[in-house]
Amino acid sequence: MARGKVYIIGAGPGDWELISVKGLKKIKEADVILYDFLASAEFLRFAKKKAQLICCGKADGLHLLEQAQINKLLSKFAKQGKIVARLKGGDPLVFSRGIEEVLYLKNKGIDFEIIQGITSAFSAPESFGIPLTRKGKYSSIAVLTGRKSNGDKLDAPDCDTLVYLMAVANIRNVVEAILASGKSKNTPCAFIERGTSPEERIIPGTLKDIVDKTKQYRVKSPAVFIVGEVVNYGKKIRDDKFK
Ligand SMILES: C[S@@+](CC[C@H](N)C(=O)[O-])C[C@H]1O[C@@H](n2cnc3c(N)ncnc32)[C@H](O)[C@@H]1O
Repeated sequence: MARGKVYIIGAGPGDWELISVKGLKKIKEADVILYDFLASAEFLRFAKKKAQLICCGKADGLHLLEQAQINKLLSKFAKQGKIVARLKGGDPLVFSRGIEEVLYLKNKGIDFEIIQGITSAFSAPESFGIPLTRKGKYSSIAVLTGRKSNGDKLDAPDCDTLVYLMAVANIRNVVEAILASGKSKNTPCAFIERGTSPEERIIPGTLKDIVDKTKQYRVKSPAVFIVGEVVNYGKKIRDDKFK
C-alpha cells in the first residue's frame, strides 16, 4: 500500500482565493479533508467526489472534535495510505494548534508537510490599506494574543505596530496593558472584523475610545486589533471605509 501523507495547509484569512496554489492542489488530491470553521465552505467544492470531509472546527467553546481526536484521525488515515489535507484558517502555525499536530505526526513517524498560509494578522489590516511597517518610520511589529488561557498578564512590547488576535472579548484588558506600557491614549487603533471576506468591516478609533466603540458597533470575532500610527495610512487609502 502507498504511504499516506498529511498536509497541514493554511487556508488564508477569509477570501478563499488567498490560499496558495500548492494548498489548493493538495485539497484536490486529498482522500480525506479535515477542516476548521475558519477554513471551510468554498474549498470543499474542489474536493474529489469520493473524498471524506470532516469538520473539526472550534469556536466560542464549541469543539466538534478535541485536539487528541484530531491528532489520532490524522495518523489513522495516513496509516491507511491516504492523502490527508488538514485545513486551518490563516497560517496553520500562527496562534493555532497546528504545531501540536505536526509534533504528533513526527513522533508517530508519519510523513507530513506544512503548507504556509496568509495570516489574518497581516492580511486583515492590509485589506483596509493599513501597512504593518513603513520604511524609515515604523520598523517593528508584534503579533500577540489578546487572551491568555492561564489568566497571565497580557503582553504589550515596545513596538511601532501591535496586532492582537482573539482580543474582542478582552478588549478592556488589552487596552489597559497597552496604556500601561507607555503608549498615548491618542494612539490610533482599529478592529478589523472578518478581514478579506465580503463582510469585512473596520472600526477605527484611538486607545481612548476603542473600548466603547467595540460595544457600540458590536464587534464580533473573528477580528484583528491593530494599534499604531500605521492605522493612519488606512484612513488615507481607504477613506471611504473610515467614516
Ligand atoms: C485561533 S486564531 C487563528 C489565527 C490564524 N492561524 C491566522 O494565521 O490568521 C483565530 C483568530 O484569528 C483572527 N482572525 C482569523 N481570521 C480573521 C479574519 N478574516 N479577520 C480578522 N481576524 C481574523 C481573529 O483574531 C481570531 O480570533
